[in-house]
Amino acid sequence: MKKALVIAIDGPAAAGKGTLARRLAAALGLPYLDTGLLYRAVGRRMIDAGLDPATHPADDQARGIRLADLERDDLRVPEVDRAASLVAAQQAVRAILVDTQRNFAIAGGGVLDGRDIGTVIFPDATVKLFVTASTQARARRRWEQMAPDLEAPDRAARIAEVEAQLQARDDADASRAVAPLRAADDAVWIDTDDMTADEVLDEALRIVRQRTGDLKTG
Ligand code: CDP
Repeated sequence: MKKALVIAIDGPAAAGKGTLARRLAAALGLPYLDTGLLYRAVGRRMIDAGLDPATHPADDQARGIRLADLERDDLRVPEVDRAASLVAAQQAVRAILVDTQRNFAIAGGGVLDGRDIGTVIFPDATVKLFVTASTQARARRRWEQMAPDLEAPDRAARIAEVEAQLQARDDADASRAVAPLRAADDAVWIDTDDMTADEVLDEALRIVRQRTGDLKTG
């Protein structure tokens, strides 16, 4: 049987993984799963239940997660950023969410973005990308996504605040014992600092074509 085309995209917070993954999936006609939303949905449920995700096991909340939960519109707020990162450090939570992620793409392929897709979820993915950017660039982009007023007089201070939060989350994600944020040995890095979204997409498509071409001829 022909192996399904799975594209794993990992990298730190707000590096542009989601934008790339969505556009790549559309260009290749593949389904897209933002795996961060799974952890965000679990974190959200902990907050809603009044449970501290730093100290309380989140297994029950993780077991109840369905793809429909990822449609909630209250998953991309700072308190959920933090709660997601805390529940994501729990081994039991990760174990519960493995099947959802594998089943999503195992038959028909797919594009998945997260922190451990190329290392843990799909170690045999056809293409692995590690998308990154400086903390300054990531903080500026994240703030621009959220900010109601791009001309705010305290812009610099607000961006510095976002940068500190991103850095704290990356440090926690990269230093946890289970499935830490890291590039797979065979991942291709894309540093998006000086690239537009179109350039990132073109570069990713070039890597995918090269890799799938190599597989045909190899
Ligand atoms: O969008 P952003 O890059 O800010 O974060 P996200 O991808 O939505 O992920 C939120 C949190 O979920 C991360 O900080 C990680 O702790 C966790 N996560 C993970 O551990 N493994 C994944 N495959 C995806 C997300």
